[in-house]
Amino acid sequence: MPHSALLNVMIKAAFRAGKSLKRDLGEIENLQVSLKGPRNFVTAADRRAEEILRTELAKARPDYGFLGEEGGTHPGADKTHRWIVDPLDGTTNFLHGIPHFAVSIALERNGVIVAGLTYNPANDELYVAERGKGAFLNDRRLRVASRRQLAEAVVACGLPHYGRGDLAQARAEIFAAQRYFAGLRRFGAATLDLAFVAAGRFDAYWERDLSPWDLAAGMLLVREAGGFVSDLDGGDAILTKGHVAAGNETMHRELLRLLKEAGSEAAKVRVP
Ligand code: IPD
Ligand code: CA
Ligand code: CA
Repeated sequence: MPHSALLNVMIKAAFRAGKSLKRDLGEIENLQVSLKGPRNFVTAADRRAEEILRTELAKARPDYGFLGEEGGTHPGADKTHRWIVDPLDGTTNFLHGIPHFAVSIALERNGVIVAGLTYNPANDELYVAERGKGAFLNDRRLRVASRRQLAEAVVACGLPHYGRGDLAQARAEIFAAQRYFAGLRRFGAATLDLAFVAAGRFDAYWERDLSPWDLAAGMLLVREAGGFVSDLDGGDAILTKGHVAAGNETMHRELLRLLKEAGSEAAKVRVP
C-alpha cells in the first residue's frame, strides 16, 4: 500500500531505530542502564535509538522541531511542525527481554497530531495513521472492536508502582474493572496499549501519569480506527493532563463512568 512521503520518512527512521534496538536486545547483559526516577530505567539503547530518530527525521525535515523522551526539546525554524518521539516505549520489558516494546513517532502540526507511527521491532508490527486517512497494521486497515458488553470485553491499564502515581486510586479503579470486565491486562508499553485498541485486540484502555510521547501516535491510531479517546475527565486535554481512556463509543463511555465511580469510592475510604 503506497504511503505518503511523510509516512515514508517516519517509517524509514523507525526501521533504523528498530534495527539498533534489536541489536541491543541481543546484548542486554552488556547494556549500560541508569535510573531516571523510582523504577524508571533508561538505557544506552533508548538514547541510541533517539539519536538515530532525530538524525533521520532532521535529514528529511530539517526545520521541524523535535521533542524526545530522552533528549528533550529541540526547537526548529518551522514553528508549526514538531516531532514527538518515544525511542523505546516499554524499557522495563526490553531490559527483561520481553519482546513487547516499541518505537513511537508522531507529527504535530499547529498543535494537532496529523501522523502517527508505533513499531514493535521484535515482531515487526508497524502501526501507522494519518489524519483523515485511516489506521493500518502492516497495511491491513484497522477498526476498533465492536463489543458492547463489558462482561465480554478485555481492558488494559497502567499500574503505578511505588514512588509513582496514586496507589489507592489505582487499586479502586482496578477493583472496579475486575468487577465488570471479562479480563484485565497490564502489558507495559502505553504506545502498544493504544495500538492494540486500534487493532481491536483490547476493547478499552486507561492510564494516568503519561507523557506526550506515550500518547500522541496512539491517540491518532485509535481515532482513525473509529475509536474514541479522551482524558479521564472526558475532555481533549490528553497530552497536557497525561491521562487517557480509549475504546469504541460504548466502552469509552462505560470506562469513564466506572472510573469516576471508583474515584468516589476511593475518596470515601481515603485515610486523611
Ligand atoms: C512507560 C510505559 C509503561 C507506562 C509508563 C511509561 P517507557 O514508558 O509506556 O507502560 O506505564 O508510564 O513511562 O518509560 O518504557 O518509555
Ligand atoms: Ca521511552
Ligand atoms: Ca514511554
